Amino acid sequence: MSNKAEIGVIGMAVMGKNLALNIERNGHSVAIYNRTSSKTEKVMEDHAEKNLVPSYTLEDFVNSIKKPRRIILMVKAGAGTDAVIDQLLPILDQGDILIDGGNTFFEDTMRRSEKLDASGINFIGMGVSGGELGALNGPSMMPGGQKEAYDQLADIFKQMAAKAEDGEPCVTYVGPNGAGHYVKMIHNGIEYGDMELIAETYNILHNLLGLTVEECAEIFKDWDQGELQSYLIEITADILTRKDDLGSDKPIVDLILDEAANKGTGKWSSQNALELGVPQSVITESVYARYISFLKKERVTASKSLTGPKFNKISESDKKEIISLLEKALYFSKVMSYAQGFEQIKIASEYYNWNINYGEMAKIWREGCIIRARFLQNITDAFNREPQLDNLLLDPYFKNIADNYQDALRQIVALAVKAGIPVPVFAAAITYYDSYRSEVLPANLIQAQRDYFGAHTYHRIDREGIFHYPWYEEQ
Ligand code: ATR
Repeated sequence: MSNKAEIGVIGMAVMGKNLALNIERNGHSVAIYNRTSSKTEKVMEDHAEKNLVPSYTLEDFVNSIKKPRRIILMVKAGAGTDAVIDQLLPILDQGDILIDGGNTFFEDTMRRSEKLDASGINFIGMGVSGGELGALNGPSMMPGGQKEAYDQLADIFKQMAAKAEDGEPCVTYVGPNGAGHYVKMIHNGIEYGDMELIAETYNILHNLLGLTVEECAEIFKDWDQGELQSYLIEITADILTRKDDLGSDKPIVDLILDEAANKGTGKWSSQNALELGVPQSVITESVYARYISFLKKERVTASKSLTGPKFNKISESDKKEIISLLEKALYFSKVMSYAQGFEQIKIASEYYNWNINYGEMAKIWREGCIIRARFLQNITDAFNREPQLDNLLLDPYFKNIADNYQDALRQIVALAVKAGIPVPVFAAAITYYDSYRSEVLPANLIQAQRDYFGAHTYHRIDREGIFHYPWYEEQ
């Protein structure tokens, strides 16, 4: 049969449906399937005129796609993905390509990759960022797996993906097996950091400077015109202008309970950083900030008994100065967040043998995804200058930012700490900067302590070898 679909999508929840519509809009026929038939029926009802080919059994679905089949899985990550793969395996043919576009943990992708390799099925683990609208209009896509399989998908992926200002599609081959989902995990971790930094900034503007929610909205709107321009700043400005949708005239943000939930991707980034021995304080503090927000009941109790400093009213001229410091502090903290994120990708790429092109990662995050920002072009430029750059802070552009903006961040952290306003990520950012630029750290004392109580030995700075000090007479 010649009129078979060019590609298939399994999972008609909103992400899968929108990806299917995106592919169709780009001129391809798309086979669709969902475990629960009613979802597929609804998609067909809503999009009757589109070039979609619905099936109501997996066998029919597989048969409706031309070979070698290209099938994108958009199902619930974890057990859902395993279940669908197990059902598909017996009915697929050698050379078919499965693409997992879910928010999958990269180690699961590595495991599935190995299993599928043995059965001759190609497997691509692909991070997809941009939320529902991104999936529909153009996401940032991070595919990893066999390069030959990616090459058979590259044209469609490039059509689907968001386009950066220079017209380049926000998709590239990331590396073998779990590389794509790994990079997506770090992307999400960085997203946690960006969000928390904005939240800490808002807290200072609103609660320390006493600006109204509307005034804060104006500031974020203004910053969105400058070097902080990004999707998250833009939506923050928008959020802060919105009133209660249930009738009161209060800003909606004031009515939302301050417990920040999470789906685990930030935690995965931190856990992996601990595994690989990479300093990743910005993402980790962002995860902790969400966790402490969830101790709402305890915080309410503690707020009634634990005291903090009283802060004086801040003069109008000081407010102006602090707002301008905040803009720089936020930008410089972002630098630290991405410096850590990219260093983690580099160390992981070496550890897992992925050979990731770091500059390309910044490039495909320039549009489509949640962390899209003007700033990412500077990262791309930095890796163009030095493809194997160890740390962004060593690039001349970012060094210059550090030289000029660090004082702003120091002042903001000092101000917040003195006023008793929590700034875990701002503080983590400046602390990372100071640690990273320290030729000597007090780790010598840690080594002495370890040797003292556990005979763990140490190296010396003045001679080769391993040493143990006679701290006390052996019994
Ligand atoms: P939602 O995004 O609607 O909250 P979800 O539970 O995350 O839903 O599931 C997303 C998609 O994965 C759905 O298409 C779901 O199929 P159903 O509509 O039949 O629930 C699909 N999915 C989840 N677990 C699955 C499984 N074990 N087998 C097949 N599809 C599964």
